[in-house]
This record gives sequence, C-alpha cells and structure tokens, in this order.
Amino acid sequence: MSRPERFAKAQYVPSHALITGASGGLGRALALHYARAGTHLTLWGRNEQRLEAVAASCRQQGSEVTCHVLALTDLDAGIALFRKDDSRLPVDLLILNAGVSDIRPEGSVTETVEAVKEAALVNYAAPVTLATEAASAMALRKQGRIVFMGSVAAHHDLPFASAYSSSKAGLSRFATCLHAAMAPHKVGVTLIEPGYIDTAMSRRLDGARPFLVSAEKAAALIAEAAARKRAVLIFPRLFTLLKLVSILVPRPIAHRLLRLAKVKQKAL
Ligand SMILES: NC(=O)c1ccc[n+]([C@@H]2O[C@H](COP(=O)([O-])OP(=O)(O)OC[C@H]3O[C@@H](n4cnc5c(N)ncnc54)[C@H](OP(=O)(O)O)[C@@H]3O)[C@@H](O)[C@H]2O)c1
Repeated sequence: MSRPERFAKAQYVPSHALITGASGGLGRALALHYARAGTHLTLWGRNEQRLEAVAASCRQQGSEVTCHVLALTDLDAGIALFRKDDSRLPVDLLILNAGVSDIRPEGSVTETVEAVKEAALVNYAAPVTLATEAASAMALRKQGRIVFMGSVAAHHDLPFASAYSSSKAGLSRFATCLHAAMAPHKVGVTLIEPGYIDTAMSRRLDGARPFLVSAEKAAALIAEAAARKRAVLIFPRLFTLLKLVSILVPRPIAHRLLRLAKVKQKAL
C-alpha cells in the first residue's frame, strides 16, 4: 500500500460508531476522538449520569449521539440492543471497549466467584457475541470495522488476576480468528493490547504504573490501528518484548517470579 493510501486510511471517519463502556476512561476518550459533524455516535454504559456527560461533550463537537444504559452481563439484552441500533443506522465501527478488572483479595487464595463470573461475561462473552452479530451484518455490507479491547495481561499467567488475564487471552484469540475469517469480506478486525492507561481502572492499582499512557493518546493510537485495519496493536511497544520473554522463559520460572509480585488494589 502506498503512503498516500496509508494516510487516507488513517483518516478514516466512521458514519456510525458504537462504543461500549463509553461512560468513562478510555471509552470516553474514544467517543471524543470520533466526535464530529457527520459521525453518529451510539454510546453504551451503565452509569447514566456519566454517559450523558460524555454525550453532551460529543454533541458540542458536532456529533449526533444516542445513549443506552445497560449492563453487559445481560448478553441477550446486548444482542437485542445491537440489532436495534444497527437496523436504525448501520454500524460501521464497533468498539468493544467495556471491561472490568479485579485483583484477588488480600490474603485469599483465589478471586471471588462473583468477580470471575463478571469478568467472564463482560470481558469475554459480551464482546465475542456482539462481534459475531456485527461481523455477520458487516460481511453482508462488505464494509465495517470491529475493535476489541484486550490487554497485555493476556500475555502472562497472572496468579492474582486469573479472570482478567484469561478473559483477555480468550478475547485475543477470538479477535485474531475473526480477523482471519473477515478479511475476505472487507471487514476489519483489530485487537488492541495496551499496557497501563491513565483511567479509573489503573488508578485503582496500588503501586507503580510503568510506561503509563494517557487515555487521549491511547484513543488516537487505537483509531489509527482501526483505520489501517491492523490485526493487532500492542502498546507501548516494550510490552511486545515482554510477551516474547514470557514465551521463552520456562513456565515454572515465570510462575515463581509472578507469584512474587505483590499487586494490590484500592477498594472501589
Ligand atoms: N486502564 C488500563 O490500564 C487498561 C489497560 C489495558 C486494557 N484496558 C482495557 O481498556 C478497556 C477500558 O478500560 P478503562 O481503563 O477505560 O476502565 P474504566 O475507566 O473502569 O471504564 C470501564 C468502562 O466499562 C464499563 N463497564 C464495566 N462493567 C460493565 C458492565 N457490566 N456492563 C456495561 N458496561 C460496563 C464501565 O461502565 P460504567 O462506568 O458506566 O459502569 C466503563 O464505561 C477495558 O476493556 C480494559 O480492560 C485498560
């Protein structure tokens, strides 16, 4: 692809972007990134007040905005709502951003059953079912982009956050499978695997957040990767190296090192 073609793709402006988890953090930054006249935004979140505040800022930038308050733990409600949104105005960019993270409570051997169930539903089951629904509709239209928000946590066996790490690892495999399946149908599928982003999620962690990236910078990087229909974007780049290291280091050694990590989180 020539440089001008690459530039044109990076300038991709969706006509209808649907963003989950748009009520704060990275979802808010993504909504503001895409907000402009000519782009309709459909924003999903749970907290109505914060969602409406994001919508108001996006409207100020010229976008028409529709908001929906729903919990993604209700998979059937999510699918029904996506069908409704897509039939009202075909979605050409779907960003599956909503996610939950949790750390094993201090002194506990495992995470709680409730936290594991929530991570399985919100981080894995909801995005893969919504993406399947979207991909089949987009394939018929021969256009569209789907973005999955993974995490570098997927690259490592985190003993203190098994549900987060494994739900993002499952999501990562689903995303690259879907990328392979959708390429002939002109539908872009992009997996984003960020390190620390400065949002409420990472601020909960009690400790250092190395190579921290602002939500605005992360949104710009994600938008560029989606525009180019990249299969995978890992950022900051150093985390690609750490992924390779985790593949090369023998598992018993990696596990021993990971067990030494003292990761805590502040109460909500
Ligand atoms: N921050 C980081 O360092 C980091 C690093 C790697 C990957 N990520 C990923 O980036 C994505 C965005 O995270 P963030 O940092 O922006 O976190 P955040 O500030 O905690 O925002 C999470 C968003 O997900 C929504 N959400 C959570 N549970 C939900 C549920 N059950 N149903 C519907 N919506 C739900 C929240 O909605 P309400 O607020 O309305 O409840 C909120 O809009 C996540 O997938 C996360 O795993 C974040």
